[in-house]
Amino acid sequence: MLAGGSGGLGSAVCELLSAEGARLVVSYRANRERAERLRDRAQIIQADLAIEADRRRLLDGAKELYGLVVFAGDPARVPPGADPRDAMLRSHEVNYLGPILLAREAAERMKASGTPGAIVLLGTMQAAALFTGSTAYAAQKAALMHAARILAKECRGTANIRVNVVSPGVMAAGMAEASIARGKYERFLTDGVIPRYGRAEDVARAVRFLLEPDSYVTGQVLGVDGGMGL
Ligand SMILES: NC(=O)c1ccc[n+]([C@@H]2O[C@H](COP(=O)([O-])OP(=O)(O)OC[C@H]3O[C@@H](n4cnc5c(N)ncnc54)[C@H](OP(=O)(O)O)[C@@H]3O)[C@@H](O)[C@H]2O)c1
Repeated sequence: MLAGGSGGLGSAVCELLSAEGARLVVSYRANRERAERLRDRAQIIQADLAIEADRRRLLDGAKELYGLVVFAGDPARVPPGADPRDAMLRSHEVNYLGPILLAREAAERMKASGTPGAIVLLGTMQAAALFTGSTAYAAQKAALMHAARILAKECRGTANIRVNVVSPGVMAAGMAEASIARGKYERFLTDGVIPRYGRAEDVARAVRFLLEPDSYVTGQVLGVDGGMGL
């Protein structure tokens, strides 16, 4: 299941996994047209992860649940000088609360069905590296990444449910596209910090790796940022 997987990064994961024969459910919140482009590769479900009933309906929609990847995210941008409170609350719901509650519920269902499973959450390099102006976004992602590791500890053992995080840098896809177009990250290229912007496919390969059924990896944060966060 690719929750909030209709966006730039989720679509690339959908493409990679469907090419390998995975049976996929992809959810979206509002942009139905974008989600419908994945219809030939996946079952499409509308669900707002900030709403409890939607989270339950989404999980009910998957007949067997082996893997869950949660892409849902909100850049929670705050215009300079504006009150950040609304963006902070929105970020809390979309970047932290919804994904973590969905992951917890999925883990419970995996335990109850006795099937090993893999859960992958999407963090961000900005949760470790400090970017001014990203309080609303990055702080909730940092909380998500910490909570994901706690969940991994709660799930370890005979149930064999693994929980990991993929932490992208600046990817030329999805929510970073507008910032790249504005030149926000240009200096990292001109200063030679990164060789190029990340591609959605870079994230897709990392997610796929963490979903491998015989994997022994849990409780880890896998950075996919070309070294930008160092
Ligand atoms: N792109 C990057 O460079 C980058 C870097 C670091 C981290 N990330 C993280 O990677 C994840 C995917 O980002 P992306 O770049 O692919 O962004 P994107 O293209 O904007 O996609 C975001 C996805 O999240 C869904 N979504 C938003 N709010 C939701 C909610 N309340 N409930 C359910 N789904 C919701 C969107 O659905 P609708 O479109 O239907 O609203 C969409 O499918 C995010 O968590 C983001 O923070 C991205």
